[in-house]
Amino acid sequence: MTDHKLIDYYRARASEYEQIYYRDVPDRRKEIDEEADHLRQLVKGRHVLELACGTGYWTEIMAETAASIVASDISPEMIAEARGKNLRGKVSFVRSDLNRSAFAKGAFDFLALGFWFSHHPRQNYGDLFAMLIELLQEGCTAWLIDNNPPAEGPVVGSVHTDKHGNNFKHRFLDNGAEHTILKNYFTKDELRNIFAPHFRIERLTHNKYYWSAVLRGVNATGAPT
Ligand SMILES: C[S@@+](CC[C@H](N)C(=O)[O-])C[C@H]1O[C@@H](n2cnc3c(N)ncnc32)[C@H](O)[C@@H]1O
Repeated sequence: MTDHKLIDYYRARASEYEQIYYRDVPDRRKEIDEEADHLRQLVKGRHVLELACGTGYWTEIMAETAASIVASDISPEMIAEARGKNLRGKVSFVRSDLNRSAFAKGAFDFLALGFWFSHHPRQNYGDLFAMLIELLQEGCTAWLIDNNPPAEGPVVGSVHTDKHGNNFKHRFLDNGAEHTILKNYFTKDELRNIFAPHFRIERLTHNKYYWSAVLRGVNATGAPT
C-alpha cells in the first residue's frame, strides 16, 4: 500500500520542496499566512503528532505555540531539511511510514497532516481514517491542508485517472527529472462527503489555492469526543 514512486519523488525533491511556499503570488501567500495564523491558535499548548512533515514548514509554525511536537516523515532527506531548521527543545523528528503508524494513542491531542490527503489513494481512505479515529477518540483534533487545482477545467499536467478515480500527474524537478505521482483534487462538497461520515467537521475552508479542514472524532451518538 505504501507508494514507493511517491516516496522516491519526495526524496529527490527534498532540497527544493519549500519553493512552493515562496512563489511570488500575493493571494497564495495570503492564504498560507492566514492558515498559519489559524494553526498557531489551534495548537496552542497542544501535544502535536505531525505525519508526513516534509521539510517542517508547518512544524516550525506550530513550534511557536505548541507544547510539544513529534514530526514524522518517511524520507530521511525531508527530515534532514526539517532538522536544519534547528527547532530545538519541544520538537523531535522520527522516520516513519504513515501507513504503518505505531504512535501511542492518547499521547497526542493534535494531529497535523499537511499536503498528504491529495496523495492518499481514494480506495485506502478507510485505513487512514481508522488510524486518525483511533487517535481522535482520545480527544484529539486533526488539521489537514492541501491544494486546490491550479486552474479551472481539466487538471493541468494530468496523465490519467485510475479505476478508483485517482488522478495521476507529471511533476518535474529542477534538474528536469520527470516523475508521475498520484495527486487528487476535491470540491468542497466532495470533502464534506468524504469526512462527514467519519468525523465531526469543525471547520472546512476551500479557497482559490488551498483547502483546509479541522476534524474531531465522534462517539457512537455522533457527539464530539
Ligand atoms: C507534499 S509533502 C508534504 C510535506 C509537509 N507536510 C508540508 O505540508 O509541507 C508529502 C510528504 O509525504 C512524505 N511521504 C510520502 N510517503 C510517505 C509515507 N508512506 N509515510 C510518511 N511520509 C510519507 C514525503 O516524504 C513528503 O515529505
